[in-house]
Amino acid sequence: MSVPISKKIALTGGAGFWFTTAVEEAGLPSIMLTDGPHGVRRQVGSSDHVGLGEAAPATCFPPAVALSSTWSRKTLEEVGEALGDEAHALGVGILLGPGANIKRSPLCGRNFEYFSEDPYVTGELAGAFVKGVQSKGVGTSLKHFAANNQETDRMRRSSEVDERTLREIYLRGFGKVVKSAQPWTVMCSYNKVNGVPAAENRFLLTDILRDEWGFAGFVVSDWGAVHDRVKALKAGLDLQMPADGGVGDAAVANALEAADIDEATIDRAYGRIQRVLSRATAHADADRTTGWDVDAHHALARRVAEQCIVLLKNDGVLPLARDAKLAVVGEFARTPRYQGAGSSRVNPTRLDNALDAITALVGDEVPFAPGFATDPQEPVAIAREADVVIAFLGLGENHESEGYDRTTLDLPLEQLTLLEDILEVNQNVVVVLSNGSSVLVSPFADRVPAIVEGWLLGQAGGPAMADVLFGVVNPSGKLTETIPARPQDVPSYLHFPGDASGVRYGEGLFVGYRGYDAAATEVSYPFGHGLSYTTFAYSDLTVTATATGIDVTVTVTNTGQRMGREIVQAYVSIADSAVVRVPRELKGFADITLDPGRSGTVAITIEADDLAYWSPIHRRWVVEGGAYTVHVGASSRDLRLAGVVELPGNEPTAPATPQTTLGELMKAPQAAMVFQAALAGLFGDASDDPETRRIMADMPIATIAGFVGLQPQQLDDLLADANRAMGL
Ligand code: BGC
Repeated sequence: MSVPISKKIALTGGAGFWFTTAVEEAGLPSIMLTDGPHGVRRQVGSSDHVGLGEAAPATCFPPAVALSSTWSRKTLEEVGEALGDEAHALGVGILLGPGANIKRSPLCGRNFEYFSEDPYVTGELAGAFVKGVQSKGVGTSLKHFAANNQETDRMRRSSEVDERTLREIYLRGFGKVVKSAQPWTVMCSYNKVNGVPAAENRFLLTDILRDEWGFAGFVVSDWGAVHDRVKALKAGLDLQMPADGGVGDAAVANALEAADIDEATIDRAYGRIQRVLSRATAHADADRTTGWDVDAHHALARRVAEQCIVLLKNDGVLPLARDAKLAVVGEFARTPRYQGAGSSRVNPTRLDNALDAITALVGDEVPFAPGFATDPQEPVAIAREADVVIAFLGLGENHESEGYDRTTLDLPLEQLTLLEDILEVNQNVVVVLSNGSSVLVSPFADRVPAIVEGWLLGQAGGPAMADVLFGVVNPSGKLTETIPARPQDVPSYLHFPGDASGVRYGEGLFVGYRGYDAAATEVSYPFGHGLSYTTFAYSDLTVTATATGIDVTVTVTNTGQRMGREIVQAYVSIADSAVVRVPRELKGFADITLDPGRSGTVAITIEADDLAYWSPIHRRWVVEGGAYTVHVGASSRDLRLAGVVELPGNEPTAPATPQTTLGELMKAPQAAMVFQAALAGLFGDASDDPETRRIMADMPIATIAGFVGLQPQQLDDLLADANRAMGL
């Protein structure tokens, strides 16, 4: 049956809050799209996208901030599969996640939904998540595209970012996911990018997403991000969500009549949505399940949470002995902070806390005092009596959320005061943190023997934390965001969150560890850091150039007493680059689990594509030829071994012009020969003088020609000779 144009237009707008419009003529029922990234939020009753209304129970897995600390593609895929099963059982066709935005500042209130300050690890992990969900016949929505790195004024503000930075830092992770996992949908963000709303941004939605990356699904708007559906459709958006009371449909119909949009543009959007929804429908009809194994998914959430926990510091107090005289302080031990606030909020199937789990492990009541918002005498009293105090500190829901940014990196004052009070009577304090993005630990890090970063660990995080504290589980998570020592050290500090005139990404490429490393800034804990109860040694690095990049192998040995998992990281730098470079960038990682005393080989493949920089001059990706150093280690600042490899590169050979500098010409051997002879003729012996050469290196040929009185024709001939010698 042919589909009337009015129905095609209707499919480009939603039905209600969470559903697509049904098109009977095409056999397309209404499909549900809903959040989200770490659990299915299928609302029952009233609808909203800020996490207010009740939702059907679903497993709350650790949010991306914690998941990313696993550095495990396998784990992300497994979580994705479980989410796919739950979505299917709950009648959800497309899950609105993962979020692949870069953590430009730890202040961003929504960092808990994002993976990292680094695009490589973001792209790898988000890609694995998408593969997992979609393997179950459920779609994903890669969001928020693009440069949505703050919550402040997120619906209006323009992210002002130069193209190289945009592509290398803010888009690279998205591109990786699109190319490796083909998400069914991509969600545009609310903000503007360089003045153009993301929903109307042809450069992003068509030129890059479709033409360069080959995205085959449909683009959905963030909820309420479209202000002009006609403009949005033309730019490459396909589905406006949620329903807008028919306003957008009418605008498109009018524009069609006025020949302001052509039917082909509407057909294009319709076709893209229809193809994806047909897939969703086929799956929804096939073997509809009515539930899932709630206990098995809870157990998975716990296993995953165990891998997310990052041991920041341990002078030997951990793991705790079960017969140690303990005191537990901090409300988060009893009332866990386990997920973020806003549209991703899940109604968990169960919720386990750390206090119960600690009590179960030690087989007895443990003295506990909530500590904050209560009488501060009590925690101090129990701390005084204890051998070890476990202090559960962190950020409450009112401190960080979707919708607004934090204004400080500090823990709440009442918690810092509580910690000071405890430290006066007992210095043996293990600090356990619950937070959705880095907090400052510098006020106390030197004065406590251990710090455990628990992020937000999902519904089964409590027992996972208890197991780590008592050594039932050996911690293995590592940071995917730096913990700065001072707020003013954060590279985006001077440019966050901007104002009504826009937010200028003034730090450019120097985001996160790229910036700290370039400025040699002291940090509390660097990107990639995380301790274990065992130790690992690195040896026998091999680094080999291949046709497609670099193959790396390294031997890792468990030199301690316990089985453990080590996350091996490969950072790459290039010497004497022609363009601005950060000192080192993560370009590969892998993990290995080893029994004590055992060794294993870790293999990492670095793709040449990942080594390319965006050249605004050539308007393309360029792999620079030259010597690349691969640093392999346990964190960005614990680099154990390095190897150098020569890569051929694919720089376009630019013809010499009057504006080419002498230095540039001398780098091309054939052109250098031509000019060497010419210079000798013009300057005699002085042409060989290194000082003269150095001074002239940055001079355009035309300028030198002017100095020595070369005639225009002579200059043209010289350049033609040089270009001929270069085969151009
Ligand atoms: C959020 C999206 C979310 C949508 C639907 C928006 O406010 O930015 O991430 O998927 O609401 O809940």
